[in-house]
Amino acid sequence: MSLQGKVALITGAGGMRGVGRAAALKLASQGADVAITDVRRPLDDLPPGEVRAEWQSIDSVSEEVRALGRAALPIYADLAESRQIEELVAQTVNHYGRLDILVNNARAVIGRDKAPVTELEEAVWQHFLNINTTAVFRCTKFAGREMVRLGNGGRVVNIASNAGKQASADGAAYSASKFAVIGLTQASALDLAPHGITVNAVCPGPINTDRMSYWERDQAAQRGMTQEEFRAQIVSTSAERSPLGRIAEAEDVANLVSFLAGPDAEFITGQSYNVNGGILFH
Ligand SMILES: NC(=O)c1ccc[n+]([C@@H]2O[C@H](COP(=O)([O-])OP(=O)(O)OC[C@H]3O[C@@H](n4cnc5c(N)ncnc54)[C@H](O)[C@@H]3O)[C@@H](O)[C@H]2O)c1
Repeated sequence: MSLQGKVALITGAGGMRGVGRAAALKLASQGADVAITDVRRPLDDLPPGEVRAEWQSIDSVSEEVRALGRAALPIYADLAESRQIEELVAQTVNHYGRLDILVNNARAVIGRDKAPVTELEEAVWQHFLNINTTAVFRCTKFAGREMVRLGNGGRVVNIASNAGKQASADGAAYSASKFAVIGLTQASALDLAPHGITVNAVCPGPINTDRMSYWERDQAAQRGMTQEEFRAQIVSTSAERSPLGRIAEAEDVANLVSFLAGPDAEFITGQSYNVNGGILFH
């Protein structure tokens, strides 16, 4: 229970099999109370498994956190809006009276970005930069200010990606947004170090999440498969390519988040660690 008495704010935490939910449950299992946030999404923007299970985003995750004996505060907010981010941080601090850990996990719903740079729509580029990068800056700015004011130090963990270190074809917007998160991690680590606040990034390879991808939905339809059947093929190909023989689970990523948020990571800042089974080494 190394996080007893700490309060964590986790973005993008509503997915039934997402990294945000896994991080919220892991931090809660270590004793933290959590504020969890996500945007309200229409039914056809959700993974089919979540619709079938009647999953209720951060309300469902809050119930799971409370079942672990910790407090949960669900807050619906759109990270595209600076004002909503400021309010989300204020609500967390007003409710709990403190803020120790920020996990920047949310990302733009993927798929429309999967295009060669010559075909990539500017609106898609802007949206990816806005949610994947600018929202990380804004959350760090507003939460960082509170951590400084409260004077207890703090931890910021940014979920970047292997795509933030090594780009792929058809990945300009996603990769640029994640490379930027790694730069932001280093700069904010230096700015916040004098206040005892560390800032690190976690860079996963492919994860066995049930995220929505417009590209996967289209590819499945073209092949006459369900979206979940197509996703299962991707998961199995990723496992074959992995030196450790499997794709990452959300919990593999949450374990590193928990370590970086905990007391044993006190002297680590500005770093970007891979969780990828050995597919990339830098
Ligand atoms: N899934 C993977 O294979 C993979 C691989 C490498 C890195 N990552 C990174 O890990 C993190 C989590 O991945 P995941 O697959 O669990 O995520 P995901 O695709 O399910 O998205 C995370 C959450 O972000 C939320 N979100 C989207 N737009 C938002 C907005 N405007 N405002 C607020 N929230 C919004 C979504 O609702 C979702 O719950 C992301 O940062 C992702 O880039 C994922």
